[in-house]
Amino acid sequence: MKDFTFDESKRYVHVISTAISVAKKYGYGYIETPILEETALFKRSVGESSDIVGKEMYQFEDKGGNDVCMRPEGTAGVVRAFVHAKLDRQPVKQKFYYYGPMFRYERPQKGRLREFHQFGCESFGETSVYEDFTIITMLTQIFDELGIGFDLQINSLGCKECMPPYRENLVNFLTDIKGELCEDCNRRIESNPIRVLDCKNTQCQSLLKTSPKLIDNLCESCDTDFKKLCKLLDNAGISYEVDTNLVRGLDYYSKTAFEFVSSEIGAQSAIAGGGRYDRLVEFLDGKPTPAIGFAIGIERIMELAKMPEEVKDGLYLGAMSEEAVESLFPIASKKRKEMRVTVEYNSKGFKSHMKGADKVNARYAVLIGEDEMANGTVWVKDLETKEEKSLPKEEF
Ligand code: HAM
Repeated sequence: MKDFTFDESKRYVHVISTAISVAKKYGYGYIETPILEETALFKRSVGESSDIVGKEMYQFEDKGGNDVCMRPEGTAGVVRAFVHAKLDRQPVKQKFYYYGPMFRYERPQKGRLREFHQFGCESFGETSVYEDFTIITMLTQIFDELGIGFDLQINSLGCKECMPPYRENLVNFLTDIKGELCEDCNRRIESNPIRVLDCKNTQCQSLLKTSPKLIDNLCESCDTDFKKLCKLLDNAGISYEVDTNLVRGLDYYSKTAFEFVSSEIGAQSAIAGGGRYDRLVEFLDGKPTPAIGFAIGIERIMELAKMPEEVKDGLYLGAMSEEAVESLFPIASKKRKEMRVTVEYNSKGFKSHMKGADKVNARYAVLIGEDEMANGTVWVKDLETKEEKSLPKEEF
């Protein structure tokens, strides 16, 4: 868990505000859900056999005996809120963005924190694959505006028609090579065979090269949509790689799944992930509602984001005599309606004030000394153009 101070907090605000401005352009509105949720919500949605639920939850009993946990991700809470507010009964399509802390009790390493922040978007009510394309486009726009390079990986996880026969097929294949797979994979053959596909163990990976691929066993509708998505990305000039082992670590996905990765941040290279979850709303007691979304890992991109050049802005107000100090306050109140104002409370000499104005990166230094008090004026210097002048106080 980390503090954000100075440079990090500036980067955090820049990344979040850039993501918000892009999300708004795609019609997303803000949603805020609690950090604490009932544990059962994540068991039902993310899945009991997932690492997140099985090993990584900050879970405890509260004073009322409720089994609660700190949210490990944002989608389940947004879907719960969506159903709770009966938005699933409304015919209009709904799009939400959110950001904030998530908690996973993982083994800490570079890029892997126990408290981390996500910016996420969830779009409800759209079955068309055009929405899958649009949401991927939105993510590319966010990364482009932040000056961050990425590789995009996509896959299709099929639907309730094509996934079950594929799963059976895969289990048969895995059972045959069981003795050679790692312990984790052996456990997963029963609990969550699809997750075996993204095992990081090199021996498992080479054994899995010949495994049946879901992409070759999709039903007609999933196959058509996946091919269409590829074509839309090709036409838009968005490069991607089809990764048949991309299964994502959360159980609620179906059809399109994607990850954005960066080669510049080490082993924890996923900077965003998402996909379709057409059955989750129904699963959490809502009306069947197709949905798709993503989340960006903010800490993983903060360092990569190109920060805008800092420009001098606002006013620095200083007094050069004790009596002049309080005459700064009416000016500060007036000017703060339109710009950033820094008031120095101690009367100081000229040079000291100029250093102070420079430190806060002010565009204008405004000083009042004995002469200005007597004449009812202020002395103003534009620190960009170096132009300086005296102005009547009421005109400033
Ligand atoms: P996720 O892939 O688990 O998806 O997380 C999304 C992103 O959060 C990851 O790509 C990564 O950048 C970041 N992240 C995850 N764990 C950590 C960690 N321990 N430390 C630092 N960063 C981390 C989800 O959470 C889904 N809810 C995404 C989604 C939204 N799917 C549909 N809608």
